[in-house]
Amino acid sequence: MNTLAESILAAAELPRERSESLPAGAYRDPSFAEFEKREIFAKEWISLCHISQLKKPGDFVRVDLADEPLLVIRGKDDAIRVLSRTCRHRGMDVMPTGFGHPDEGNRRVVLCPYHLWSYDLTGKLVGAPEMQQAEGFDRSEVCLHAFRSAIWNGFVFVDLSGQAPPLAERLTDLESRFLGKWDMASAEMVWSAHWDCAFNWKVLVENFMECYHHLGAHRKTLEPFLPAKGCWTEPENPVFSAMHLPLKASMQEEIRAAGHAETPFPVFPGLGLEDCVEWSIYLIYPNGLFFHAPDRFYWYRILPTGPESSSLVTTLFVHPSAMEAPGYQETLEREIQAGIDFHMEDMEMCTATQRGLASAGYAPGRLSHLEETIWQLQRWIAGRIKRSQAG
Ligand code: FES
Ligand SMILES: [Fe+2]
Repeated sequence: MNTLAESILAAAELPRERSESLPAGAYRDPSFAEFEKREIFAKEWISLCHISQLKKPGDFVRVDLADEPLLVIRGKDDAIRVLSRTCRHRGMDVMPTGFGHPDEGNRRVVLCPYHLWSYDLTGKLVGAPEMQQAEGFDRSEVCLHAFRSAIWNGFVFVDLSGQAPPLAERLTDLESRFLGKWDMASAEMVWSAHWDCAFNWKVLVENFMECYHHLGAHRKTLEPFLPAKGCWTEPENPVFSAMHLPLKASMQEEIRAAGHAETPFPVFPGLGLEDCVEWSIYLIYPNGLFFHAPDRFYWYRILPTGPESSSLVTTLFVHPSAMEAPGYQETLEREIQAGIDFHMEDMEMCTATQRGLASAGYAPGRLSHLEETIWQLQRWIAGRIKRSQAG
């Protein structure tokens, strides 16, 4: 781990023009994965879901993060809480992974299947059978653990440590300069899919954040309208990474000449004409991934499940007015398919990259200027290594 940490720090010190990919251990080493769990996933704000998934009291999303089984749930008081799924009786996960519990749904109460202790939507214990002989046992004192959470632009974030700097303050710049225009809080999640991935979470984050691979992986899907050559990256920021993907020149000219963009879904109302001539990509460190077009955006949630595996949720959002537009269902099906098509290209690249990382033939390789976001991520991770060394 120490040699690996040293090489990551060294890679992050390189100027952008000399940047390289990381050593394979960063994507394979179990002790480095433990470090990331402890120092990154348990200490940073992590996006879990969107409020459009939690419309009514009792609506929930279940997610496992850094060994913590979590339940994001809306209470009758309309508040959204991030609760631990660990039962306060003998610790069973009340909706254990791998036993057919749905990833989202609605509950009137949270019932532990083991001995039927039941909790209300705020996590308070409301039922515990056959406990009358347990002396001094006071049901009203028992509650599922609640983690610190925050909602930012419609996304529910958790900070397992309870110590991370306030979320909204950190993201003011990202919101005012970029993402605020989409009014993501009122957007609707219209599609989501879960993928078990045979690669380290960073393999996907790096893939998502660089557009260099449009040349190869997305030659037929994205490159024709979002050419790699024109993409550019915003300067380094301590909290996020942002990249612009201008449409190909002839499409930009058409949009400017027409004064509006012809898009499958209606354009988000907060956007101006110049916002319609590009797509953009954002990473809220460490793993909140956004891919924004004028008429939709994609949010990906990737969480490590091991050094070389991860759990991915891919989603698609539109403005609510899209759902009233004529032909919406057909448009949606077509766009979901288009999203799956480019996503499958990425899945193939990521899976095969992870295999390559296991090879004796692997060594760090030089990066293109179109991969600046990878260098930025390395520098952010190096910052976490330094923080842990200092603390
Ligand atoms: S462990 Fe949950 S009721 Fe016993
Ligand atoms: Fe891609």
